[in-house]
Order: sequence, then structure tokens, then C-alpha cells
Amino acid sequence: MSDVVQNGMPGGDARHPHALEKTPARTPDRGAPVLEVDDLVVEHRNRRTGEVFRAVDHVSLRIGAGESVAVVGESGSGKTTLAMAATGLGTRGEGDIRLLGHSLSSVGRKQLRRLRPEAQVVFQDPHGSLDPRQSVRSGLRELRSLQPERTSWIEDTALLERVRLEPSILDRYPHQLSGGQAQRVCIARALLMRPRLIVADEPTSGLDVSVQADVLALLKEIRATTGAALLMISHDLAVVRSVCDVVHVMYHGRVVESGPCETVFARPQNDYTRELLAAMPGARWRSRQ
Ligand SMILES: Nc1ncnc2c1ncn2[C@@H]1O[C@H](COP(=O)(O)OP(=O)(O)OP(=O)(O)O)[C@@H](O)[C@H]1O
Ligand SMILES: [Mg+2]
Repeated sequence: MSDVVQNGMPGGDARHPHALEKTPARTPDRGAPVLEVDDLVVEHRNRRTGEVFRAVDHVSLRIGAGESVAVVGESGSGKTTLAMAATGLGTRGEGDIRLLGHSLSSVGRKQLRRLRPEAQVVFQDPHGSLDPRQSVRSGLRELRSLQPERTSWIEDTALLERVRLEPSILDRYPHQLSGGQAQRVCIARALLMRPRLIVADEPTSGLDVSVQADVLALLKEIRATTGAALLMISHDLAVVRSVCDVVHVMYHGRVVESGPCETVFARPQNDYTRELLAAMPGARWRSRQ
């Protein structure tokens, strides 16, 4: 399987052909388990009414080093809840989640603190992810102070170069950044941690169309050059198809179909997958097959 499916997306290498070359190699063999989710159930409780809503219903998935896996599904199907639980950031739920072979439910606090940076999340709204009171430089400084050893491998300017941002960006505040620049800053902050897993939750859907392809190309490049695994959540099937090897289709909290993107998109077996393919923005590509 090739590392990156180009699918007509502009490559990000033209301006900085060696942009990520110096990222220290620290990745396990391709395919070695990075994230394993077994029979995950996550419920949200409404504090006012006490009502319980099952957002993730017995979901299992696995991502190996260097692999990219997509989760698609309509709004409210449980994608973000799944991603947050899987990275130990959201409601934990029941079932087993193993990050680099360590079960999140059985590790102690200290080990969890060490494990958490291995999974970095890039969110849909980059401005919402950045502290409006911090310049880019002071935000990076804070991250470095929290994880000094993990983050000492690269200087700020070189880090920004990896995501194709000028050093002058360091002195800007989030409101002085475009959406595309702000998302690159978020990707740089994730990259600084040298994660084994990058979770991208609709990373381009809040951005102007003109910069979406660049940000995707950057994520693909980071995956290819660092060997990090990528869990991509997206409504856009063209995006999923261009970036991911495997897709899981979620419906009402359950995974209703899984498989290689090519197979699932070309020959969907589940009725809901068929409906989704017909309704999603990325469905355009199918008519070209
Ligand atoms: N903190 C919460 N408390 C109560 N219910 C929640 C909470 N977070 C999510 N939900 C509910 O859980 C369900 C799944 O939400 P989730 O955000 O995971 O969906 P999603 O697939 O990511 O949707 P979208 O595509 O709109 O981002 C939704 O019905 C949502 O209203
Ligand atoms: Mg979501």
C-alpha cells in the first residue's frame, strides 16, 4: 500500500522539499499497533434531566504506525465522542482503549501524563483551539515548559518552517492569523510533541476552500515523514479517499461498515453507507469512477 494517495491534491513539497526530513525517527515498524479500541461504549448524561444518551455503541477499531484511518458519518453519529475517548481526552466510557499497547483504564496518572502527548488532536476550529491571550511564541513556550524533554528536538522557527509558516508568525496573536495560518499553528503545536498518533477532527471544514488542500497536503506529508498514524474524521469523502487507507462508517454511535476506502466507496455493502455516499459532499468523485 502506498504511503500517500495523491488523488489530485497539490503536494506540499514544492516550496520546502525537505521540510520534514530532520524530524527525529522514533516510530515503531509500520503497522505496529498505535491505537486499539475494543468494544467502546460512551454515554453522555444530561446533568439537568439525568437522561443518558449512548453516543458510541460498541465500537472497535485499530490503527497501526504509519496508517491512516477515517471515521465518517452524519452529524451526531458519535465521531468526536469516539475520538475524544480514544485519546483519553473526553468521557472515557466502557471498553478497552490501548495507546501504544497501554490500556488507558489501567495505567496510573503518571504514566497517563506520559502517554497523552503521544496522541495529538487537531480540531475543526483552529481559532477556538488557541488561547486568544497568547502569542504563537508564548503558546509554544508553554507547551515546552510542560514537556521539556519531548519538545527540545526543534527550535520554534524550524518548527514553523515545517508547517510552512514564516518566523514573523511567532509574534502574532490568534486573531492576527488567517484560518489557514491558525490551523498550521495548531498542526505545529501537535508536531512539536512528536506524537505517534494524530487525530484530525474535521481539520479543514472550517477553512476557506483555497487553503483546505494545502492543510491536507501538510497532514499527509507529516504522516509520511514522521510515520505517525492518522485518525481522520471528516464529512468530505474526497478528503477521506485522498488521505486515508481504511474507513469506518458510523451511524447512531455504531460502526456499520469498515474496510479499505477503495472497496467501501466503490462497493458499499450497507444501506446507510450507500445513503451517506450519495448525500455527502465528496460523493461527486463517485460519478467520475
Ligand atoms: N458533552 C455532551 N453531553 C451530552 N451529549 C453530548 C455531549 N457531547 C456530545 N453529545 C451528543 O452525543 C452525540 C454524538 O456527538 P458527537 O459530537 O460525537 O457527534 P459527531 O459525529 O462528532 O457530530 P458532528 O459531525 O456534528 O461533529 C450527539 O447526539 C451529541 O448531541
Ligand atoms: Mg464532531
